[in-house]
Amino acid sequence: MKKDFKILAIESSCDETSCAVVVNGRICLSNIVSSQIDIHTRFGGVVPEVASRNHITAIDNVVKLALSKASLTFNDIDAIAVTYGAGLIGSLLVGVSYAKGLSYALNKPLIAVNHIYGHIAGNYLTYQDLTPPFICLVVSGGHTAIIRVDDYNHHEIIGETLDDAVGESFDKVARVLGLGYPGGPKVSALAENGKNFIEFTKPNHELGYNFSFSGKKTAIINYVHSLEQAGKQIPKEDICYSFEKSAVDELVEKTIRVTKQYNYKKIVLAGGVSANKRLRADLSKKARENGIECYIPKMEYCTDNAAMIGSAGYYAYINGVGIADLTLAPNPSLSL
Ligand code: KG4
Ligand code: ZN
Repeated sequence: MKKDFKILAIESSCDETSCAVVVNGRICLSNIVSSQIDIHTRFGGVVPEVASRNHITAIDNVVKLALSKASLTFNDIDAIAVTYGAGLIGSLLVGVSYAKGLSYALNKPLIAVNHIYGHIAGNYLTYQDLTPPFICLVVSGGHTAIIRVDDYNHHEIIGETLDDAVGESFDKVARVLGLGYPGGPKVSALAENGKNFIEFTKPNHELGYNFSFSGKKTAIINYVHSLEQAGKQIPKEDICYSFEKSAVDELVEKTIRVTKQYNYKKIVLAGGVSANKRLRADLSKKARENGIECYIPKMEYCTDNAAMIGSAGYYAYINGVGIADLTLAPNPSLSL
């Protein structure tokens, strides 16, 4: 193995086309993210067919830009890593096909990466000294789970959502309030000015370490509709504040409880919703109060990006897992 192992990583699982160059899983030389948010905003959410077509037009330039930003050429690259699931099939197909083409043309190894392992690895880029074991709270548009990470490639789910992911519920609450897409940052911005807490659902103690967000979302939709029918004003800021607070409280409380029960010393936050200010602040505070170290990814590694795939790809490769060939196919419903 070379001293400085350079991975060119590609991520295209949803609506971001991204390419990065990462050295030894820890040092990011470039991380280009071309977002399609502007394109999907007018539809109120990601339109899969539109997303895959836009990946096709963007990917070549994004890869070339990532290389030039890193001051490298294709010959300097040691391996290609790519997200092969979970995600939108058409979107994944673009990244996987491109990566396979590169791997073949350059005669370099191909590494298949699970998108969620990528989100976790965003923290290895943020904290050079962070190593497993730890408890990870994964919160994204498609996933919500508390996971034991005992080694770079050993992940075990302790609790997860039984219905909607937390990011998805942020997006749905934003939609019913007419805030637009993506909803998370918009709900969060309005929540800052909310004052009155509305209890939309009671805590469900039967869930254990699992989560359920669809009840909160439905209660909010019904509340908004009943106010609309009565011709009353919608207290958007209070609704956003109440939804955000109740979701964050539950995520934080269960993560701390799991960490103490299993006697872990570190908590790691991962996924798009880890950009949420209240979640970052509350999880850090509660961890500190309980004598647990808390790792929060840098903003640029929260939402989808290829650098995190380059880091996860490195740890898969050096441990002999995820090594793929030209038969690699995307898996839209890949689990952990
Ligand atoms: O990880 P990600 O970029 O894509 C998936 O793998 O799903 O996560 C996107 C999700 C969206 O649901 C978005 O609304 C949410 O992350 N999100 C946020 C914030 N920023 C992004 N949710 C709450 N607060 C935020 N600041
Ligand atoms: Zn993601």
